[in-house]
Parts: sequence; structure tokens; C-alpha cells
Amino acid sequence: MKQARGILPLLALLCLAVGALGGSTIDDFEYLSVQEMCALLPWETSFLRPSTCDNWVSCPANGTSLEHGACATGLYYNKQQGRCNLASSVQCPYTGVEATAPINLCANETDGTFLQDTSSSNCRGYILCQGRTQIHADCPSELIFNPRSRSCVYHNQYTCPESQMTHTSPACRALPNNTRLAHTEHCERYYECVNEILHTRECAPQKAYDVNRGYCVDIEQVACYATAALPEPENTFCLNSTGGYYADDQSCSHYYICGKPVKGKHDTQPQHLSCALGQYFDIEKLSCRDRLNVRCVLDRCVGNNMSYVNVADDCQKYARCSGGVTAGTGRCPDKYYFDERSQGCTPTNHHYIACSPRIA
Ligand SMILES: *[C@@H]1O[C@H](CO)[C@@H](O)[C@H](O)[C@H]1NC(C)=O
Ligand SMILES: *[C@@H]1O[C@H](CO)[C@@H](O)[C@H](O)[C@H]1NC(C)=O
Ligand SMILES: *[C@@H]1O[C@H](CO)[C@@H](O)[C@H](O)[C@H]1NC(C)=O
Ligand SMILES: *[C@@H]1O[C@H](CO)[C@@H](O)[C@H](O)[C@H]1NC(C)=O
Ligand SMILES: *[C@@H]1O[C@H](CO)[C@@H](O)[C@H](O)[C@H]1NC(C)=O
Repeated sequence: MKQARGILPLLALLCLAVGALGGSTIDDFEYLSVQEMCALLPWETSFLRPSTCDNWVSCPANGTSLEHGACATGLYYNKQQGRCNLASSVQCPYTGVEATAPINLCANETDGTFLQDTSSSNCRGYILCQGRTQIHADCPSELIFNPRSRSCVYHNQYTCPESQMTHTSPACRALPNNTRLAHTEHCERYYECVNEILHTRECAPQKAYDVNRGYCVDIEQVACYATAALPEPENTFCLNSTGGYYADDQSCSHYYICGKPVKGKHDTQPQHLSCALGQYFDIEKLSCRDRLNVRCVLDRCVGNNMSYVNVADDCQKYARCSGGVTAGTGRCPDKYYFDERSQGCTPTNHHYIACSPRIA
């Protein structure tokens, strides 16, 4: 997906659109149940009940239950202050909303036409015309709608205009300024309403957004929104590498190739390769070679089906293998040396590198 560069063909878009019909949970915030709204908000958040001017909802805290109420007659709920005030002193975001009948942009369009959804503040939204009615949908994550090509494209192919990004978000209308909402797909992201505009935010590395507490915490302690996934743990093998070949620290027969850092960022997808059966990786010669010619202090029973193997640093010693791991060790009699090849003790010392003492 990341490698694709061209504009997604409309047919592909249509298929993707069906999966995303109705837009994301955040766009539909005002149509959710109050329980579903609170599930996206931090504990104890209070807000104006959508489509009303004088009803409020107070989300549960740890262990307490959700509460909702209505202002006394003549008062409107002031979401900023979290209390009811004289109706004349509160601007209700839901008065006059229905006054302007929405225009059906698909009234004169053929089926399958894609149009820009100008109410989408992140440019992901678009409109699909079907039977002269509008179907609101979102481009898949990471893509935005380009009104000229009428398709979902990558961010480097179209810039969401500032004028569109400053559209107020329906999700924010009911919420106090600076309220945060959970991202429904990515736990390391969240949204924040600032002056009624929905902003997507990202936690610092190794942190994720805790839906209950409403801020980023260490990944080990996070409570993610039910459908939000944590990022894949980053491969840090190449963290201090400027690029090159490395022995695997878990297996004598495997090795890594780290790419050069790009823009100061280490290679997070090093190649992990294996030598042929019976061969070990030799860091000095950067080669795969006969395992008896490689010094490797890891378990030499791993990755083969021999019953006895030589061990590092002592050519008289041997290890007994069981189930592919060392099950015990033994020692040949005086003046006898262990030979993996013949699986026994012999009077000849082959001085295999595998068992020869390290030269200080
Ligand atoms: C929530 O309440 C439980 C039980 O009272 C407590 O163990 C837990 O630490 C609380 N969680 C937070 C994040 O405060
Ligand atoms: C559709 O066509 C009708 C008749 O020509 C016109 O009155 C109306 O404004 C058009 N609607 C749109 C959305 O263009
Ligand atoms: C909302 O919060 C931002 C900063 O977080 C502040 O600059 C802005 O003035 C606030 N808006 C209102 C309407 O209080
Ligand atoms: C990378 O280098 C730092 C500082 O020299 C060291 O503390 C850290 O353990 C190294 N990390 C790895 C994965 O080698
Ligand atoms: C050991 O493994 C090799 C390669 O898989 C196989 O050809 C051979 O028959 C095996 N020997 C025993 C004793 O299982």
C-alpha cells in the first residue's frame, strides 16, 4: 500500500468506499448514543447533548455511572462553564441548524459520481452519488480526497486547503473547548477540539492515548479505545548501526543486514537471513561456513539433529542434544577430543575453530 504511488483508480475507490460507508465514528459523533459518546471521551467529561440547547451529559468516572440532566426552564447549557445560564447569554450551536435545508449535490449527477465533501475538515470525506442521493464516505486512513482527480490520493499528491481544514467539526459542537476524543483505529493518535475544529494529534514515541485519562501515557500502562490498535513494536536491532552485517544474538546460523540510517532514523526493517543447514555465520569473514569453523557461544544443539555437538572453548568437552537444545554436557577421557563429525571421542585433536580456546 505504502509503495503505491499512482492515483487509486475509481473502481478500487468504490470498493473501499463500501467498507467505509457512513464515514468514521467521529464524524457521526452527534448520532451516537450517549454511552458511545462517553466511550470516546475522558472520564468525567461533561458536554451539551447534541441537537439540544438545554440538556447535558456527564460521562462516568472510574466506577461511577453516566448522568444526564436538563437545565431549568429559561436556561441553556453553557458547555464551556459546565453549567446552565440564561438562554440569552448562551450561544446554542443547534439553533438555526435545520433552518437551511441541505442541498442535494447529487440531484443532477449520474450514479457512481464522486464529489468533494466540503464539510469534511480533514479532506478525507467525499460524497458518492447513488440513485440521485448522497452517500457520505471517507477515504481509507492515510488518504485524502482530491476534488480534481475525484479520487483518494496520498497526502503528497494533494494538499488539504487551509480554508477546508478550518471548517468546524460536528463532533466538536457539543464539546467544551480543548476536549479530546479517542481515535477509533490508532491508539497512539487522538483528536482534540480547539475552537470547534477537530485536530488529529499524535502521542510521543513509545506512548499511546489513554481513553479514560484523556492523555498520552507509556504504552505498558495504556487503556486504548476498544477498537484502537497499538502500533507494532519497532525493530530496534539496528538502533546504533550505521549500516552493515551483524550476527544474530539468538542463533549461530542467522544474521542481520542493517540498512544505512535514513534522515537520522535507523533501519527498522533489517533483513534477517539464515545460512544453509550445517553452516554458521562468521562475523570476521562475513560468510556462511561450516559450523565447525565458526566460534559461536550460543547453543550449538539448535538448528540441527545431531545427538552430540562440540562446545565453544574446550575441544575435549561435548554437549548432549535433546529436542534441538543442550540437555547436558560431558567430557572425553584424558588425551581424547570430541569430534562432532564422527559423533565420538578420538585421540586426534582437529583443533576445530568451534571448540578452540579464544586467543587472548
Ligand atoms: C479505577 O478504580 C480501580 C478500583 O477502585 C483502581 O484499582 C484503579 O487504579 C482505578 N484506575 C484509575 C486509572 O484511576
Ligand atoms: C439540478 O438541476 C435543476 C434543474 O436544472 C436545478 O434547478 C438545480 O439547481 C440543479 N441542482 C444542482 C445541485 O445543481
Ligand atoms: C480554546 O482553547 C484555545 C487554546 O487551547 C484558546 O486559544 C482559545 O481561545 C479557546 N477558545 C475559546 C472559545 O475559549
Ligand atoms: C545504543 O547505544 C546506546 C548508547 O551508546 C546504548 O545505551 C544502547 O544500549 C545501545 N542500544 C543497542 C540496541 O545497542
Ligand atoms: C537430519 O537432518 C537431515 C536434513 O534435514 C536429514 O537429511 C537427516 O536424515 C536427518 N538425520 C536424522 C538422524 O534424523
